[in-house]
Amino acid sequence: MTIFAERRQRLMNALGDDTLVVVPSARMVSRNSDVEYPFRQDSDFYYLTGFDEPDSVLVLAPGREGGATVMFVRPRDPEKETWTGRRAGVDGVCARFGADAGYPVDTFEQELTTLCAGRHRVAVALGADPAFDAQVLRAAQHHRRKPRLGLEGPDVIIDLRSVLHEQRLIKTAPEADIMRRAGRLTAEAHNEAMRLAAPGRTEREVQAAVEYVFVAGGAARVGYTSIVAGGDNATILHYNENNQPLADDALLLIDAGAEVDYYSADITRTFPVSGRFTAAQRDVYDVVLEAQEKAIATVVAGRHFGDIHDVSRRALVEGMVSLGLLEGSVDGLIESGAYRRFFMHRTGHWLGMDVHDVGQYAQHGASRVLEPGMVTTVEPGIYVASDDDGAPEAFRGIGIRIEDDILVTMAGPENLTEAAAKAPAAVEAMCAEAPRFVRPVEGL
Ligand code: GLY
Ligand code: MN
Ligand code: MN
Repeated sequence: MTIFAERRQRLMNALGDDTLVVVPSARMVSRNSDVEYPFRQDSDFYYLTGFDEPDSVLVLAPGREGGATVMFVRPRDPEKETWTGRRAGVDGVCARFGADAGYPVDTFEQELTTLCAGRHRVAVALGADPAFDAQVLRAAQHHRRKPRLGLEGPDVIIDLRSVLHEQRLIKTAPEADIMRRAGRLTAEAHNEAMRLAAPGRTEREVQAAVEYVFVAGGAARVGYTSIVAGGDNATILHYNENNQPLADDALLLIDAGAEVDYYSADITRTFPVSGRFTAAQRDVYDVVLEAQEKAIATVVAGRHFGDIHDVSRRALVEGMVSLGLLEGSVDGLIESGAYRRFFMHRTGHWLGMDVHDVGQYAQHGASRVLEPGMVTTVEPGIYVASDDDGAPEAFRGIGIRIEDDILVTMAGPENLTEAAAKAPAAVEAMCAEAPRFVRPVEGL
């Protein structure tokens, strides 16, 4: 509760006393008839409240008599709770979540109108939900529609995200601890996948093993849809059918991350199904690994975010030339973009409560300067389409990505996911181990 209260206070300090802050929760989304998609709280809302119920709204009203934190929530209802689960209710949200006042959510618009009186600015993330925007705008403009009452109301709407997302970008010590746990758990799941995968098993079985370790290890869910891509499926960047058998001579690329206490890890490992790299697989793997290691060494306070991509791209292009995938000068191939045939994405992204986390990548027209507390992925790859007739035959159908999660610290890059086997010898040794947590389901 203290951590969430501190976050709210920092946000109010940054926005000023004159600003009312409005943050809605996520909503339930229907999947079919009365079945809903699994609920996952909105990250901004959770970051400020620790409250994981749908149909709620947080309002911060600095200087309000009785306290600034006002929450609108679903009221207690024993009959509904029997069907859809426990609710904190208006009393519980004060007693257990640190709200200074709790109201039933259906009074939100009316109460917001009152809270707007005498304020000049409202901070809200416009555009995410038009129905909610309309409610906020009606309440904010109420005073203008009744000028004869002589009340003052807000005349400036500002985007909450520009301030809040900068706050979320820099992880505090307790957040870094959660991300270390998410990283360790996710690493162990990737190690288990190496132990379990074998010719004749399927991508789906390996997905199940990875996600079993996540959930049994305390993760509430995956941070994003797991990619379990055998053979040339790995050359499809967002492959997630995960339903093919694994061939003896194939590589298996797994990109999967556990979400632990609302923070996601994001690891990719690529390893041989048979347990032994072929010579061609190993050649490409070594290039990607060298690029990744050089790029990780660039995740240093004071360097620019864009340097990570520049360093990884240069190492990849040098490797593509030495492998015979490309011909020409490294600078020329970077300049022309010819390398994009084999490396078509960026090297990394911010990581946190969202797998592609919030926060600007550029500031003042330049790539962002790295600061302690930022977490970025580093994930170079080489993908050779199986029908790329211009590529050496031995490399066709090979897709390799290696991804770790790196925390910027005063002492240099801290790899949160280093427990997942990565050096070729370590990968082969892991593949030779027997599974520790999961047994295959046979004979059904
Ligand atoms: N798993 C999504 C990504 O690596 O960005
Ligand atoms: Mn990933
Ligand atoms: Mn990623």
